[in-house]
Order: sequence, then C-alpha cells, then structure tokens
Amino acid sequence: MVMGITLYDGKGSADIITGVMNLGRQIEQYLPQQVLELVRDISGQAAKQKQRVYLVGGAVRDLLLGYPNFDLDLVVEGDAVRLAEQVAETGQAKLLAHHRFGTAKLRYENFTLDLATARKETYARPGALPAVTPGTLKDDLIRRDFSINAMAISLAANDYGELVDPYQGESDLERRLIRILHPESFSDDATRILRAVRYEQRLCFELEAQTDELLKRDIPMLDTISGDRIRHELELIFKEKQPEFIINRLAELKVLPRISLFLKGDGWIVEKFDKARRLKKPTQLPSLYFCLLIYSFGETGIEQFLARLNIPAKLSRAMRDTLRLKTRLPLLDKSPLKPSEIYYLLREYEPLAIQANAIASDSSIVHRHFRLYLTKLRYLRTSLDGEELKRLGISAGPEMGKILQILHKAKLDGEVKTKADEKKLALSLKSA
Ligand code: CTP
Repeated sequence: MVMGITLYDGKGSADIITGVMNLGRQIEQYLPQQVLELVRDISGQAAKQKQRVYLVGGAVRDLLLGYPNFDLDLVVEGDAVRLAEQVAETGQAKLLAHHRFGTAKLRYENFTLDLATARKETYARPGALPAVTPGTLKDDLIRRDFSINAMAISLAANDYGELVDPYQGESDLERRLIRILHPESFSDDATRILRAVRYEQRLCFELEAQTDELLKRDIPMLDTISGDRIRHELELIFKEKQPEFIINRLAELKVLPRISLFLKGDGWIVEKFDKARRLKKPTQLPSLYFCLLIYSFGETGIEQFLARLNIPAKLSRAMRDTLRLKTRLPLLDKSPLKPSEIYYLLREYEPLAIQANAIASDSSIVHRHFRLYLTKLRYLRTSLDGEELKRLGISAGPEMGKILQILHKAKLDGEVKTKADEKKLALSLKSA
C-alpha cells in the first residue's frame, strides 16, 4: 500500500504558465529516453497531418504521483490506426490494429504503446458496450471512469507538456479522492464499482462523498455486467500488490454478495492471500487467489460462481478440485502414511488445488504430505516400461497393467530402487 503521496515527488515542481500546468520537464525525467524519442516521433508524424497526440489515462495520473507506469496510452485527434501504421513502417514495432474500434497497439521489445482515435461514447443501455463515434479529446476524457484517469498531456510541439484537466483530476489527486465524472457513471458501466475500490485501495485514496453514495446505490447494476467482464476486473484486482484489502473493502461495501452470495472478505483471506504470495510466482498467483476466494463455498455456491463469471475450463477444474480435496484433508492429516497412500489420495487433483489446500490448512502433517507429493511423488516413474516387460515374457494386457501398477507402488514406497530390483519383482509376479 502506498502512503504519503506528494505530487511531483522527486521531479521538481511543475511549471505553471498563465494558469495552465506544464509537465514538459516531468515527462523528460519520467519516460525512458527510448520511449521519449518515440513519443516525440509519433507526435511529429501526426503534426504533419494536422493531427494532435496526447498522453492520457493511467500514465498521466502516475506521472503526477511520481509512480512509474510505462503502459502508455496515446489519444489521437485524427486517425490513430493510420498513424500507428506509419510509425510501424518506419520503426521496429509490431502492429496490432483494430480498424473497427480505431485503436492500435505498437509492440516494441520492452514496452507497448496503445494508440486510440479520440472518441465519444454513448450507452444504449446500462452494462452494454458503448456505441463509439470519433470525437474530440474532451469527449474522450468525459467518457472515462474517474477524474484522476481523465487527464491528458499534450505531446504537440506548440504546447508540449500542457496538462489538459477539464474535470479537476489534478485537484482530486491532491485531495486523494476517487470521483466519477457524472451521476450515471456506475450505472452505465458497473465494472467501475470494482475499479473504484481497486484504485481507492491501491493509492490509499478515499471515495468522494457523492461517488460513495452513487456506488452504493448502483451496486445492483452489477447484474447488467457479463461474466467475462466481472472476471476480468477480478483478474485485475488479483494483479494488485495486496488484493486482499480490495476484497475486504468490497465486502464491507456489500459489493461482493452481488457477485456471489457466498463470497466473503475477512481475516482469513488476508492471512491466506499473504501466504500465497510468499509461495507462488506472480504469474500463477491470480489463479491461486481464485481457489482461495471460494474456499468456504459449498457445491451450489461454486457452480453458481463458475457460471456467473464464465470461468475457463482449466481454472474451473482447479477450483472444483480445491473444494473436493478440502473434504479429504482429514485422510491426509494422519501420520504415518505410506508415500503410495499419499500418491493415490492426491493424484486426481490439479496441482493448483493442492497448493490452495496447502495454504488453507494449518496442519504440519498435511503440509509435509503435500510437499512430498508436489516435489517428488508425482514425478516418480518406473524404470521398466511395457516394451521391456514384454522382453521379460510378460504379455501386454491386464497382466502387464497390474504388474506396472505394482512396480510403481513399490517404487513410490522405496521398496525397489534400481532397474534390477524392478526386473526381479516383475519376474516374481509373472504368472507361470
Ligand atoms: N477506462 C474507463 N472505464 C473503464 C476502463 C478504463 O474509463 N471501465 C479508462 C480510464 O481512463 C483508464 C484508461 O481507460 O485510465 C485505461 O484503462 P486501464 O488500462 O484499465 O487503466 P490504467 O489507468 O491505464 O491502468 P491501471 O488501472 O493498471 O493503473
């Protein structure tokens, strides 16, 4: 969690000329040289066609806060796709263009740039994806979620660095407030309810009073949002440094029950998410958080949740396995268990479900058994294969299957160590 934000921290103060804040110097210090040159080049190419380019959204917010963010979004008053095509021709970028949406992504070796044609949005009905038409920068900013994300910095030569802040985002950054831009913002797009809490917790900000009121009023509008979009927002939450505080805050605001009546935020989540982070690589963490999030669910709860969020098959399997394995934990909380017994108890479960249960359980015996399975038992194979058994005179079919199983069990339990041991055991089992 970030504490004690000072605007322009370490970047020197911004220049204010005739009441307009100029962040030209800050951009020069903030962006890596390579990115800076590229952004200037893009802006120069746009100017030749009388088009203007702006840095917008999260990067402007983070630049003002002095936080690194090289996920750059550029808005073009003009044709963003054509501009991106020209830039891709002259540079070493890979281009991914969406003509229909007027957006393009330029992928460089260490970073990406998103270009979008400035647009106006209208919502046909709450929760629907908006209808989009070309617009001005101001149109493009008013369609955004919060004032702190609705600022732009001009990259044009004549007013390079000028902050465009029609909705007082900079003042909200100073006051540390998350504020929507119009009263129907949450009902137009209820994913903003989840986004508001994510930014509030990430930045240690507060919800502005009316925003707080409208957020609570519009919680039922989450029903208008597709499962894929809700899941995407949860995935974004799970990429944050400490998602447990966002989950708990969503519980406090009574947002969670609107997604699933069984979802909870509590001290257990705080403890277990923290433990997950100490065990798992960041790329695998979101899936593990999903498994821990539903740990207190019963059968009905999990099926409703998987369906509501349209969870993909592999993750669904891991989440169902998490709950199935939870019911079998007492069988694993005994000592001593033979390695083969541990193996047969665990082999049908996704490794992620085993990891989730390892984090959830407080038993050192269970931990020891899980560790043995995950690090060793699941990889153990017999040295003899079917072909070699045939050469020993064992015919393919049920007999061979049985012998291979016995060999594997003996290997798990350390009763055979070498290939010669396995041969000896196989021959002793061969029917006369
Ligand atoms: N945006 C929005 N409403 C949404 C999603 C996005 O208005 N439901 C706008 C915001 O202005 C946001 C920008 O689109 O700043 C880019 O979205 P995203 O990449 O999700 O946010 P960033 O602020 O760039 O990144 P992050 O949340 O990781 O800081």
